[in-house]
Amino acid sequence: MSFTTNGFILIVDDTPTNLDVISETLSDAGFSVAIATSGEIALQRLERRLPDLILLDVMMPGIDGFETCQRLKSNPKTEDIPVIFMTALSDTDSKVQALELGAVDYITKPFQEKEVLARVKTHLQLRRLTQEMKYQVTEQKNAKEALQVSEELLRQKAILLEEMLCKLQHTQAQLIQNEKMSALGQLVAGVAHEINNPVNFIYGNITHADRYIQELIGLLKHYQQEYPQPTEKIQKYAQQIDYEFLKADLPKLLSSMMIGAERIQEIVLSLRTFSRLDEASMKAVDIHDGIESTLLIIQSRLKTQASIPIQVIKEYGNLPCVECYPGQLNQVFMNVLCNAIDALETEISQPNPTIHIQTKVIENNRIVITIADNGAGIPKSISQRIFDPFFSTKSVGKGTGLGLSISYQIIVEKHQGIFKCTSVPDKTVFWIEIPLKQEREKSSSTQ
Ligand SMILES: Nc1ncnc2c1ncn2[C@@H]1O[C@H](COP(=O)(O)OP(=O)(O)OP(=O)(O)O)[C@@H](O)[C@H]1O
Ligand SMILES: [Mg+2]
Repeated sequence: MSFTTNGFILIVDDTPTNLDVISETLSDAGFSVAIATSGEIALQRLERRLPDLILLDVMMPGIDGFETCQRLKSNPKTEDIPVIFMTALSDTDSKVQALELGAVDYITKPFQEKEVLARVKTHLQLRRLTQEMKYQVTEQKNAKEALQVSEELLRQKAILLEEMLCKLQHTQAQLIQNEKMSALGQLVAGVAHEINNPVNFIYGNITHADRYIQELIGLLKHYQQEYPQPTEKIQKYAQQIDYEFLKADLPKLLSSMMIGAERIQEIVLSLRTFSRLDEASMKAVDIHDGIESTLLIIQSRLKTQASIPIQVIKEYGNLPCVECYPGQLNQVFMNVLCNAIDALETEISQPNPTIHIQTKVIENNRIVITIADNGAGIPKSISQRIFDPFFSTKSVGKGTGLGLSISYQIIVEKHQGIFKCTSVPDKTVFWIEIPLKQEREKSSSTQ
């Protein structure tokens, strides 16, 4: 291949004299030249090698210069090659048509050597500059694309970091809450254990004490029958202790002691249900037991701190046992109930502070527990954030902002359930929905 630095030019003309004159002029000026004697031949040549510029005669047999130019411009491979028409001096229409078809210039016959060279050089230079610009534009475009790619990568990394931070916060939240709950659970379990033994002594002995006392009273009766005339000293003592009243009151007293002891036993049982330290695994339990034990733990808050006692309305449905992590579910009840109490405590204008607990079985073998309060409600502006870890509107020391985020994890992730909230003034409802049976539990029980 013999490229000269000046460029490679294709001359298309059917007149041999013209071809000779032009090709000689250009060759002398250092250009590499190829010739074609018709439009068809020119187009064929282009398939082999693309010139830097084409000099094209207008009037030719076969396809003329215009047609040839049109074909050149409609082919993406050749459309960028500058075309200079060679035309007769007087032919203005041809010149206009040529330029309209995409030619960059024209030279007139008979040729002026200097003019031909000047125009050819100018257009070659223009072409080089255009190509250079195109290259730079492409480079810039590539650079921009590369920038966009790295921007996208950075954005993805930022999202990833945000996710990791979120996960970290969740883990931290869970750790803190677990710590809190396990400390509370241990305390409750400890208290329950310590009370359990002494209360069993009382409960177990009351029946015997009752029997002994009845027997002693029976013995006295026998004495009265055998010795109907008691001595003055005995009479005086009987009056002093109000024997008749004592005899009538003692059984009542014992039975109320019995009721009291039974109540303590129930409380101990509830405390144990609440702490559930021994039940870290999935288990089928009565959900109502869990709710009741939680209510027992927070009972004091319902009465003493609020200016008007908070009323708790329970509407328990007929629930079968539910497979769940009972201790964790109790955490959820406790968090939601405490939030409701917090809301009602601060709502002094509510004359009837009420917590409404409902349970029911719904379709697809799922159960729902709703816990509603008639406090001021959750403003729309924060309703999206209440499940976020560490989000709290309570003063420092009062709220850590972990209650709902932990509850969400327990219900949604641990129990494949739904945990949501709707709130308008005077009605905030937390919806806790879980399946009756857990998938994992089902598969492991079939093993
Ligand atoms: N029943 C409710 N009524 C009004 N606002 C509520 C209710 N329940 C939750 N909120 C709002 O949601 C926020 C987040 O509750 P969350 O239980 O997660 O944290 P907290 O109660 O502030 O702190 P803690 O970690 O001690 O539970 C609360 O600060 C409160 O603003
Ligand atoms: Mg809370």
